[in-house]
Amino acid sequence: MVKVKWLGHSAFEIKSGEFTLLVDPFITGNPQANCAVEDICADYILLTHGHGDHVGDGFAIAKKCDATIIAPNELAVYAGQKGLKTHPMHIGGAFEFPFGRVKLTPAFHGSAIVEEDGTIVYTGMPCGFLIDIDGKTIYHAGDTGLHAEMMFLGDFEDIELALLPIGDNFTMGPRDAAIAVDMIDPKIVVPMHYGTWPPIDSSPEDFADMVDTEGVEVKIMKPGGVLEI
Ligand code: NI
Ligand code: MN
Repeated sequence: MVKVKWLGHSAFEIKSGEFTLLVDPFITGNPQANCAVEDICADYILLTHGHGDHVGDGFAIAKKCDATIIAPNELAVYAGQKGLKTHPMHIGGAFEFPFGRVKLTPAFHGSAIVEEDGTIVYTGMPCGFLIDIDGKTIYHAGDTGLHAEMMFLGDFEDIELALLPIGDNFTMGPRDAAIAVDMIDPKIVVPMHYGTWPPIDSSPEDFADMVDTEGVEVKIMKPGGVLEI
């Protein structure tokens, strides 16, 4: 069994057996987060891209817990230069980790870290993650617009759970995300990356109404909520 907890925005904790993974653990400054960074630890931290609302507390948690950061190469190199344990990957590549398999998918977006002095450090291509764990495939799309490569996921992957941004402005909005659901054909879809701030204040109920793909269950989670798959 896999336990998937939504921490708000695009942050998820995925637990299976002895392993805990975090994806895009943005807690500090996340108005939706109702947990404390001190209470969170992980074995692996997966980062889709360098934006602050995704790297979030990832580096601090990685340091505290001696976790390995899994990220696109340039972002992983950046993390490595900060003294963290990393496993660099890139789009289209997969790797078998002790907890399961991870493959990086394309995401149409940007990726950069803004340093304290305002310097922008570009951190390569953003990505999504296909995570095969305990016999289930989870797709975390990262931040992305709708793109045709999502059709490959529907054709060649058997996705149990898709985590899709619906907030609009920076990513897909509800309508495009509903089209993505049709392409990906997951068993369950959870909307994310909405309601955190005014520009991405789209409605998950609108999204649920627009999903008309047969056999797909839309689960609107609450921050701190857990889904068992
Ligand atoms: Ni972003
Ligand atoms: Mn974002």
